Amino acid sequence: MSSIMPEKIKKEDEVLDSALRPTSWHEYVGQDKIKENIRIIITAAKQRSQSPDHLLFYGNPGLGKTTLAYIVANEMGKTLKSTSGPALERAGDLAAILTNLSEGDVLFIDEIHRINKTIEEYIYPAMEDYKINLVLGKGPMARTMELKLPKFTLIGATTKPGMLSSPLRNRFGATFQLNFYNKEDIKKIIERSSNLLKIKIEPEAVEIIATRSRFTPRVANRLLKRVRDFAQVKGLNTITKEISEHALNSLEVDMLGLEPSDRSILRALIEKFNGGPVGLQSLSAAAMEEEDTILDIYEPYLMQCGLIERTPKGRVATSLAYEHMDLKHLKKQSNLL
Ligand SMILES: Nc1ncnc2c1ncn2[C@@H]1O[C@H](COP(=O)(O)OP(=O)(O)OP(=O)(O)O)[C@@H](O)[C@H]1O
Ligand SMILES: [Mg+2]
Repeated sequence: MSSIMPEKIKKEDEVLDSALRPTSWHEYVGQDKIKENIRIIITAAKQRSQSPDHLLFYGNPGLGKTTLAYIVANEMGKTLKSTSGPALERAGDLAAILTNLSEGDVLFIDEIHRINKTIEEYIYPAMEDYKINLVLGKGPMARTMELKLPKFTLIGATTKPGMLSSPLRNRFGATFQLNFYNKEDIKKIIERSSNLLKIKIEPEAVEIIATRSRFTPRVANRLLKRVRDFAQVKGLNTITKEISEHALNSLEVDMLGLEPSDRSILRALIEKFNGGPVGLQSLSAAAMEEEDTILDIYEPYLMQCGLIERTPKGRVATSLAYEHMDLKHLKKQSNLL
């Protein structure tokens, strides 16, 4: 989950997520290759009257993993039963969920990399042979009991595939990486969302919001909603180019979609470490952000924009970063990329 946002906004985002979440392939914009492959997996399984293989989705926050899981369940005519890695505290929690599944159900485990190791052991036979071994009693009197499970499809989602153990990763029949979207797709998403929110929007405004959306659907929807607030307060019934620019500037979302926290990371890298190379730990201390947050939230997009690069010696600011931050005077010839 993104910690880029304060708690309150996160809640608002969740409401927005479900209101604007596509429920069919037709509404799910972009990621064409992934859609095509998943459709084949589902169609083939349907033809064999089997449940599709277990699927693993990974990618940065807000790119559409949860949405995809819902669509898969929908396509199969099932409702999604949803849980998450951290919610499964004891093996009993998992056993309760698994034994309550019906034939062909889709079980979604979000943040599957955070599942605890003892529970993970129970998932292996469930995924592989649709059975679960329960331990009854304790000590020398303990017995294991094997329970048969209905055939189900597990969908796992994670922002950190590297943290999944390889036995778990290997038990998924197919793994899909969601990438950043292209601008045209983000524009389609903004147009669709404006329709759903019943607000008119000028094409130039769509362009402005798309440009600053970090190629991420959730961010696009969030910015659209913020801009709508500004339009509403001004008494406009259409989101115009001017109000979009004004709103995003007021919210300190810059031309590349960077927010103040992204910029403070770049500023620390340039001003405190001469543009690097610097290790994650030092950068995290200087920018006052957790290492994990830098790794998961900020860095992928800063790298995508070509503002920082990862080298064996650490993070390095690129010339583009100096330019973007208006700190060209600090540029040293020696450490330029
Ligand atoms: N392909 C898409 N087309 C249209 N809208 C999308 C698409 N993907 C995502 N969205 C929008 O973005 C929102 C966030 O997507 P979603 O919750 O699926 O992301 P996620 O990858 O599960 O994020 P997280 O890692 O934070 O759980 C959705 O509610 C939906 O409104
Ligand atoms: Mg999700």
